[in-house]
Amino acid sequence: MNLLLQNRITLGQSSLGNDGRIVPNSLKLVFRFFLCFFCLIATANAEVTGFCSNCHTMHNSQDNAAMAILGGEEGTTPNAFLTRGSCLGCHAMGNANKIESLGTNEVPQVMHTDASGDLAGGNFAYILGMKGSGASDAKGHNVIDFENDDVILDGPPGGIKQFAHDSDLNVNDSNLTCAGTNGCHGYRYAGKGSGVSALSGAHHGNVDGKCDTASEVADSYRFLLGVKGLENQTDKWQNKSLTSHNEYFGQPSPQRLGCNGGDLSCHGSNGIRPPSNTISEFCATCHGNFHTLATDTSDGIGSGISPFIRHPTDYTLPDTGEYAGYTSYSTEAPIARTVVPDTASGDVSPGSDVVMCLSCHAAHATDYPDMLRWDYNNMVAGDAGASAGTGCFVCHTTKDD
Ligand code: HEC
Ligand code: HEC
Ligand code: HEC
Ligand code: HEC
Ligand code: HEC
Repeated sequence: MNLLLQNRITLGQSSLGNDGRIVPNSLKLVFRFFLCFFCLIATANAEVTGFCSNCHTMHNSQDNAAMAILGGEEGTTPNAFLTRGSCLGCHAMGNANKIESLGTNEVPQVMHTDASGDLAGGNFAYILGMKGSGASDAKGHNVIDFENDDVILDGPPGGIKQFAHDSDLNVNDSNLTCAGTNGCHGYRYAGKGSGVSALSGAHHGNVDGKCDTASEVADSYRFLLGVKGLENQTDKWQNKSLTSHNEYFGQPSPQRLGCNGGDLSCHGSNGIRPPSNTISEFCATCHGNFHTLATDTSDGIGSGISPFIRHPTDYTLPDTGEYAGYTSYSTEAPIARTVVPDTASGDVSPGSDVVMCLSCHAAHATDYPDMLRWDYNNMVAGDAGASAGTGCFVCHTTKDD
């Protein structure tokens, strides 16, 4: 366990507004009443609400003590946009709750020990060994914010073979971070730096539910610039059941990604973004060769029809053969839709729904090697045992027979 993590666990309990002042109990009660009252009103709201002081500090100083201490952070270095925490301070408090309260807001957690499950993106706690079968760098993205380098990987496997994207010269495990130039969320390579500064207006402008514009961070799916999708409003941030889940956006066949003529470039308006707005193409902004159709420089998945040379993504499930058997939505091996729907559906339509990176992987971390959604070691062809109908067999419905 690293030092930062220990800090987080011991200090994680510190409560909001803890500025060292003595507040009479009666006043605290009144305050709590109003907080709860606002909670009720706030549930339907997507944009952040509530007292500025829940989340911001003007000078990072009160009674000469640091104020940027959300989630148990030391707070000695002030944050961009005067927030009282970094991304981790608000989103990785390290407690036993996958959703924490911050004043009138619920805050989704990406590192926690909640036994009731994880949010849709996964849980960085698996990499660190706070939860699951033990610490392992192979269980997820080793973002530097957790001060935990990947011992094996440096650059992203599968980068486009052009301008050093297939090496560690751009993004690598020593600079991969939550948001910004070398991150996934916010404005990427757009002159807005990294961390909170790269979110730039997203929290106060957050569009929840159907995100089918994706022209800026606030109206993109989960603040991933350019990604379209439907955010679950029934159980926020969760893929919970047949009809309560996010809906991901995909396309019938991937594009050629690169910088030569005929290729689509990821350098678009507002910075790096998936040119066709799909979640798989978003992953491909770093792991392009695992997704693109063959180009002059990258062999990708091949020509775009079977036989492939890498597992296809952004590719329509055939409505024939074993694929025709996947008709009921699985949160274990979900598919993407080629149109962002208004509501989540429990039906799968082979012939129109598509396989995506998130059919097999999570985005942050899982309890399994290669950040997979299930244990690949349980996938045994012809074995109709306990793993029948799970993982790979959700689509390859006859391979467990
Ligand atoms: C629940 C937390 C929360 C509350 C409450 C909150 N903010 Fe923010 N605010 C943030 C975060 C996080 C950022 C930085 C990231 C971003 O812009 O998305 C931010 C950014 C900002 C920015 C710069 C970006 C922009 O949107 O213009 C301003 C100005 C701002 N807040 C003002 C306020 C004021 C004034 C209040 C009280 C009336 C307030 N905030 C209440 C979380 C909050
Ligand atoms: C001061 C606290 C605070 C900070 C700092 C903060 N966030 Fe948030 N964030 C929130 C709150 C509160 C919400 C919930 C808003 C809502 O209800 O949709 C949120 C929501 C989100 C969401 C989900 C949006 C959605 O689509 O539902 C993402 C993604 C996110 N934040 C990313 C980040 C990243 C990345 C950083 C750092 C660069 C960051 N946040 C910094 C408080 C914060
Ligand atoms: C900003 C660049 C970036 C984006 C976007 C990105 N990755 Fe990665 N990914 C990396 C880097 C760098 C590594 C290697 C270092 C590490 O493991 O943290 C990596 C490693 C991985 C690994 C291997 C983990 C291991 O240790 O074996 C998987 C699997 C993966 N990414 C899947 C995805 C998926 C799925 C998406 C889309 C949801 C995605 N990546 C989006 C940069 C990125
Ligand atoms: C969400 C659905 C889905 C999941 C989950 C899935 N696949 Fe596939 N797989 C497909 C589709 C769609 C094709 C392409 C079918 C076609 O056009 O012939 C495919 C093709 C393949 C092929 C043949 C490639 C070719 O050249 O035709 C192999 C091998 C394969 N998958 C293995 C796996 C394994 C192993 C797993 C689990 C780790 C897995 N798949 C999980 C949907 C899926
Ligand atoms: C059909 C399931 C499936 C799909 C879809 C899938 N992956 Fe994987 N991925 C795997 C498996 C299984 C591995 C383990 C290594 C292997 O079998 O090649 C893996 C390994 C990886 C690795 C680690 C490679 C290394 O060298 O350690 C990365 C990175 C990765 N996948 C990214 C992606 C991205 C990005 C996408 C979408 C463009 C994607 N994967 C789609 C199943 C899948």
